[in-house]
Amino acid sequence: MKVRLVLLVLMAYCFTAEAQYSPGPSDSSSVWWKNTTIYQIYPRSFADSNNDGIGDLRGIINKLDYINGLGFETIWVSPFYDSPQADFGYDISNYCAIAPEYGTLATVDSLIAETHKRGMKIVFDLVLNHTSDQHPWFKESASSKTNPKADWYVWRDGRGKNGKRPPNNWYNVISQKGWTYSKARGQWYYSAFLNFQPDLNYRNPDVKAAMFNVVKHWLGSGVDGIRLDIFNCIMEDSLLRDNPKVLTYVPSAQHLKTKFQNRTNNINHPDNFALARELRDTIDKFTNPTRFMVGEAVGSVNDNMPLVGKYGDGLNLVFLFDMIFYDFKPKFFRDKINLYEQLCPEPLMPTIVFGNHDNRRSINRIKNNLQKARLLTMFQLTARGVPVIYYGEEIGMRDVWMPKKDAKDPISGMMKAVPQFMRKKLPVPLNRDVCRTPMQWDTTTNAGFSKSMPWLPIDSEAGIRNVQTQLADSLSLLNTYRDLVHLRDSVTTLKCGNIIINNVGKKRKVLSYLRQYKDSEYYVFMNFSKQKVELPNEVRVLFSTIYTLNKGDNFTNDIITLTPYGGIVLKYLGPKGQSDDLDYKGQ
Ligand code: NOJ
Repeated sequence: MKVRLVLLVLMAYCFTAEAQYSPGPSDSSSVWWKNTTIYQIYPRSFADSNNDGIGDLRGIINKLDYINGLGFETIWVSPFYDSPQADFGYDISNYCAIAPEYGTLATVDSLIAETHKRGMKIVFDLVLNHTSDQHPWFKESASSKTNPKADWYVWRDGRGKNGKRPPNNWYNVISQKGWTYSKARGQWYYSAFLNFQPDLNYRNPDVKAAMFNVVKHWLGSGVDGIRLDIFNCIMEDSLLRDNPKVLTYVPSAQHLKTKFQNRTNNINHPDNFALARELRDTIDKFTNPTRFMVGEAVGSVNDNMPLVGKYGDGLNLVFLFDMIFYDFKPKFFRDKINLYEQLCPEPLMPTIVFGNHDNRRSINRIKNNLQKARLLTMFQLTARGVPVIYYGEEIGMRDVWMPKKDAKDPISGMMKAVPQFMRKKLPVPLNRDVCRTPMQWDTTTNAGFSKSMPWLPIDSEAGIRNVQTQLADSLSLLNTYRDLVHLRDSVTTLKCGNIIINNVGKKRKVLSYLRQYKDSEYYVFMNFSKQKVELPNEVRVLFSTIYTLNKGDNFTNDIITLTPYGGIVLKYLGPKGQSDDLDYKGQ
């Protein structure tokens, strides 16, 4: 009886929610990149075609049918350009050449062509903020104070006697000293990340022109979008003034304060937006199809959205990293939806990111529980925002721990100097190898990644968490992704409709929202608890992670029960029930 009462309240709320939203015009349905789904590939770890233990571009080409079969439209490939690989490609020594272990320019051309042949899009990862210290530009720049490239990087005299103290107090993104002394030049250079990644000086028009040419070069080769590495660090204060002092010591992914300073002069500088605008003008000249940029930026949504601009005329998208640090509670997701709606309303579009190559695997936060992961997948693919999925997330790949002495990540070595209490607070984990282990394809040797010893170890649970095994199981996490990506793809409302929270009675257990576009409405209910929750009826099931409910089931009088950690996408039957939803290719 009590349950029925709750049900009535739930229904009442659902239908009053309808009266609260204002449909408003939405122009997003015609902009492809606002409606896309992005699958991130870390090339070193995805698929090894020549069996040298390292993934490569041919390996990616061989797996395009897999990604296409899952329904993802866009692939983003982490850097594969010429590089000493000190930071596995995020230290580039030639932006227009390819690292031999990954392939050749011809392989890149065929990767682009093969992606397009499948009706998919491809995003390249460009590190505009810095080069490798092995880049010929830097070598020249570091050789003297008077060479033609002397002003291509951020150089300054040091302070104090003989200039032996850094030019200012800046700490970089990972809370390390931002300046490195160069004996040859007798000056200091600044780096926002690691000291072998010197920052380019964008106040020099020649630098800007050279890097914009790189962007044009790749867009001219047919690339559909670019991911911009730490774009919020691209400009620094022109006078290189000290950062203001604050009382906070411990850093956080949510603010820029660290070690008693607020890094306002070297991170999230207001001049970043003007550069974003200029880049936007450049990329908007490439049409058929239009191209897009997605920026990586550390900090809060408040800090990052200015890169897109109030009118969406800067970067097209920025990664919003809040979900990476999720709490498995409806309130967390409700709050984020509200925040994103406030800060990224039409025509802006948020992104929904649960992981990437710099963070612990997302499933770690729910103790590797695959059923809970299916619920998160439902959120990621039915909420408003471009979903960005990190390879292996779709099969529930876990963090793989390895002895410290075997760590390949350059950050790992440096962290010895970081006190224990600060380590967890840094925006990147101690050893990023844990989330970069080889993709688990099947149950053969090395999980089908390579016939040779892979560059990083394979997870001991690869026997269950692999593509082959999960494809054969209709209730697997992989099939949940596949089904939901296809559902999203076939329902305009799920891609670009409004999102309105249902503030139903079971707030602590259930996350529920309405997606609405023109005359079409969809409800999503997710049970975050281990108890059953009952739902209103007169609905058609479009997707469910509950094994007793099937796609296409219509309910008119019965009660639907959400099993523990069960989730469901529903369409209400009735006058607004025109159907564009049952033809999707999922199971
Ligand atoms: C952010 C990238 O995601 C990370 O992997 C890299 O180490 C730094 N930027 C430096 O490029």
